[in-house]
Amino acid sequence: MLRSRIIGTGAYAPSKVLTNFDLEKLVDTSDEWIMERTGIRERRIAAEDEATSDLSIKAANNAIKMAGIKPEDIDLIIVGTVTPDMFFPSTASIVQGKIGAKNAVAFDISAACSGFIYAMSIADQFIRNGTYKTALVIGAEVLSKIIDWSDRNTCVIFGDGAGAVILRGDNGKSGILSTHLHTDGSMWDLLYIPGGGSRYPVSHQMIDDKLIYMKMKGNETFKVAVKSLEAVILEAIEHNKMKPSDVNWIIPHQANLRIIQAVVKRLDIPIERVVLNIERYGNTSAASVPMALDEAVRDGRVKKDDVIIFEAFGAGLTWASALIRW
Ligand code: COA
Repeated sequence: MLRSRIIGTGAYAPSKVLTNFDLEKLVDTSDEWIMERTGIRERRIAAEDEATSDLSIKAANNAIKMAGIKPEDIDLIIVGTVTPDMFFPSTASIVQGKIGAKNAVAFDISAACSGFIYAMSIADQFIRNGTYKTALVIGAEVLSKIIDWSDRNTCVIFGDGAGAVILRGDNGKSGILSTHLHTDGSMWDLLYIPGGGSRYPVSHQMIDDKLIYMKMKGNETFKVAVKSLEAVILEAIEHNKMKPSDVNWIIPHQANLRIIQAVVKRLDIPIERVVLNIERYGNTSAASVPMALDEAVRDGRVKKDDVIIFEAFGAGLTWASALIRW
């Protein structure tokens, strides 16, 4: 059966580290509060001249190298991001031009923290129906530039980074076995940026009113996230006629350690089978799943034939999972 197999992974995080102690100097918070409520100790922050495509390209080149392919071999590039370099062109177009993937169709998709799994699912459809053979899928964000650094509800949580995978159509047992995507737009206002688009176009007033920054109802988001993630992981397991005990690795969106712990506890999956790097990177939205995957692949945790679940939840609201046999 034709499946999309992940033949390369890559990640990149900016070099600047912002610790909880640094944040204590910016807002009324503490290392203790942030660690206890989120599990985050530090996060990476892009340089002033570093945009999402710059991070994406570094992650993509690492994935291309691991896959042993040439940029010209890529037929499709999808970038999941809510912090594109600019409104248009797409960040994927900029990546396509700069890496020399001249044969690839390129576009972005906007599904916030679920963006990488949404993008991977779209690429998977194109590969399985035979339209394209090789796809580069990227999740990348520079959230530090859309955060209100005086809002302690949001500024302690997010960080910058990029992760990428190369998918290739292959006949065999390994690859993406299924993807599961969901949206509930009735709760769009739990997490959003009000201004800068066609609803509240840029004006001096909207900037003064801080409408260009992310707003989040953290507590409500937390509760919906736990329920939705439990359901979408189970959906992936049951769709493939498996049991939670068949899963070797959960690679979760690194939103909040307490969300991850609550979800795997409900599913009776030991935390030792979860790939975690939230302590070092915070919530990097669409980048978090491919960044964690890359770490687990490169350090040898992920082995051939392992059953892996990706999961994510984010603004939209959107949530998603994917089940992969490595
Ligand atoms: N430092 C210290 N105190 C803080 C704080 C901070 N950085 N941020 C909020 N607080 C305070 C609040 O003001 C509140 O004080 P009050 O009781 O005096 O009003 C108190 O801590 C509790 O706030 P609450 O929002 O209920 O805390 P929480 O336990 O829900 O934790 C989040 C807050 C944001 C960490 C948590 O809700 C969360 O992670 N939600 C999910 C967010 C998420 O994943 N978003 C992205 C989706 S991909």
